[in-house]
Amino acid sequence: MKAELNGVQIAYEERGKGTPLVLLHGFPLHRAMWEPQIAALSGSSRVIAPDLRGHGESEAPPWIYSMDIYADDVRALLDHLAIDKAVICGFSMGGYIALHFYRKYGNRVSGLLLADTRPQPDTPEGKTGRFNTAKKAEKEGAGAIADMMIPKLLSAEGQKRSELVQKVRKIIESTPVRGICGDLAAMAERSDSVPLLSEISVPTLIVVGEQDGLTPPADSKLMAEKIRGAKMEMIPEAGHMSNLEQPERFNKAVEGFLGKG
Ligand code: MLT
Repeated sequence: MKAELNGVQIAYEERGKGTPLVLLHGFPLHRAMWEPQIAALSGSSRVIAPDLRGHGESEAPPWIYSMDIYADDVRALLDHLAIDKAVICGFSMGGYIALHFYRKYGNRVSGLLLADTRPQPDTPEGKTGRFNTAKKAEKEGAGAIADMMIPKLLSAEGQKRSELVQKVRKIIESTPVRGICGDLAAMAERSDSVPLLSEISVPTLIVVGEQDGLTPPADSKLMAEKIRGAKMEMIPEAGHMSNLEQPERFNKAVEGFLGKG
């Protein structure tokens, strides 16, 4: 399905009935990263998985990309679907968006699911790295970004599973360079969400792959300590993309959180 939101065509998948659950993908991916979750969780929830602007089947406008705009797009999608409140689940960059969404539109959030993400902003070195990655994307295309990202997204074991590597590669290679550069600018400019953590008052689940090197378990522990009542699930034998490497364990944790397990 597609809807014109904030002047941009946004594609999304909606499946199932029950508690609305919005799945926000990471960088530089699209909603297909959530296939195992859409299939399993739509049995008991109303799952909504958008392609963020600049990704998948959504339009890739020339500008603007920021956490603010991504959050506004998600709010516009909830409005479009006449959903008052939803559980917002964000993976990695999607988690940065989920935290910013809570900051801006906390009254639309019934729960938070923060998967393989972190609350800290980029360091100055991190911002320089984003800029260099954007230059690489412009010069060499999405394939070069796939080469760079796959070893960071998947554990050493995950990288031996060729169907998994191919799936992730296909998703990244389909991402327009505009969307890749938009994400990088949005992530480099994002606010520090550490001070926000103690203000979060909705049920929160934090999930992280035990071998996540990009947003390591220590970042998840920090969120679990600071968010009142938050629960944390560590997924064994998984890297950053714990939802794809260990979908059954990931889904079980989410179902437990949603009260459907
Ligand atoms: C992601 O997986 O969404 C990003 O790689 C996270 C990041 O680069 O900070």
